[in-house]
Amino acid sequence: MKKIQLFVIVALSCLAATTLLLLKKDQNYYQTQDFAYNEKLAENLSGFSLASYCSASKIINWNCGAPCQKNPKGIKDAYYMLNTTMDSAGFMGYSPAHDAIIIAFRGTIPWSKKNWISDINTIKIKYPRCDNCYVHQGFYKAFLGLQTQIIAEFPKLKAKYPNSKVFVTGHSLGAAMSTHSMPVIYQLNGNKPIDAFYNFGSPRVGDQTFHDWFSKQNFSKEYGRINHRADPVPHLPPKSSPFNFIHIDHEIFYHSFSSPYLLCAQSEDPDCADGVPIPIDIPDHFSYFGYDWVAEMFTCQ
Ligand SMILES: *[C@@H]1O[C@H](CO)[C@@H](O)[C@H](O)[C@H]1NC(C)=O
Ligand SMILES: *[C@@H]1O[C@H](CO)[C@@H](O)[C@H](O)[C@H]1NC(C)=O
Ligand SMILES: *[C@@H]1O[C@H](CO)[C@@H](O)[C@H](O)[C@H]1NC(C)=O
Repeated sequence: MKKIQLFVIVALSCLAATTLLLLKKDQNYYQTQDFAYNEKLAENLSGFSLASYCSASKIINWNCGAPCQKNPKGIKDAYYMLNTTMDSAGFMGYSPAHDAIIIAFRGTIPWSKKNWISDINTIKIKYPRCDNCYVHQGFYKAFLGLQTQIIAEFPKLKAKYPNSKVFVTGHSLGAAMSTHSMPVIYQLNGNKPIDAFYNFGSPRVGDQTFHDWFSKQNFSKEYGRINHRADPVPHLPPKSSPFNFIHIDHEIFYHSFSSPYLLCAQSEDPDCADGVPIPIDIPDHFSYFGYDWVAEMFTCQ
């Protein structure tokens, strides 16, 4: 683990150097984009994202402590998704409190070497759903590891709860996987838009062509990519050449969870995460909506 931590610190320092030139603009909270954002729902979904880090039995029995208490009515018919080859995981199930099927993708667990390998595998590969789109290979493969289970299990939930809503969420690597799940779940949902899609601390998933394609789809009625202050992960992999990654739209940026948020104007907005001069605060990555994600994920195994 020590080696991994050292690696992360070195990697993040390099990243900081590349972003030092970006200057932070004024501190006014503003809304330049008109897209729907339901903060209370996003907060509830952050609870599901955090719960996805817990052990399968604690998720299925909904006794995972604080992450589960965020949504105290829990999840019925929970299915734990796991691919041991890729070390990708998540869960799906029905939330009676929301009358919604929830699909939550787990992020990088600090002790999973395979997850770190997925994260740093920044080679771009051709993305089969759109022409000339390229995506981060590690995130896409991590998602593909769960795709078969989603295709097998989501329709069972849909059959049992045909009129319920569908919500998708994830944090970190799980946020990247949640983005990749959009076209798949959209299709499984009878080509009907997903009701809400909120993720937290997402890295960049694809290139400009992927961004352009994604923004033209109607995968979700409402979606947002929530970022917290100097969280380093949204800055990875880099925008700069030769990486040339770019975020999908609908960034929602928080300086803190006790102050107003910004609905950001463009996928890379200088008033939001992209304008943070030294984005290397790892605790910001692990404190969305005020929980201590690291402490919770260690205690809910
Ligand atoms: C968030 O969860 C709480 C607790 O289950 C619930 O009362 C509330 O209605 C939920 N809010 C939204 C917007 O889903
Ligand atoms: C796990 O992922 C690999 C690589 O995508 C895939 O070949 C395999 O079928 C997956 N296993 C399960 C159980 O889904
Ligand atoms: C998405 O919805 C808009 C408005 O209803 C429509 O014009 C557009 O063609 C749809 N895009 C796709 C890819 O279906």
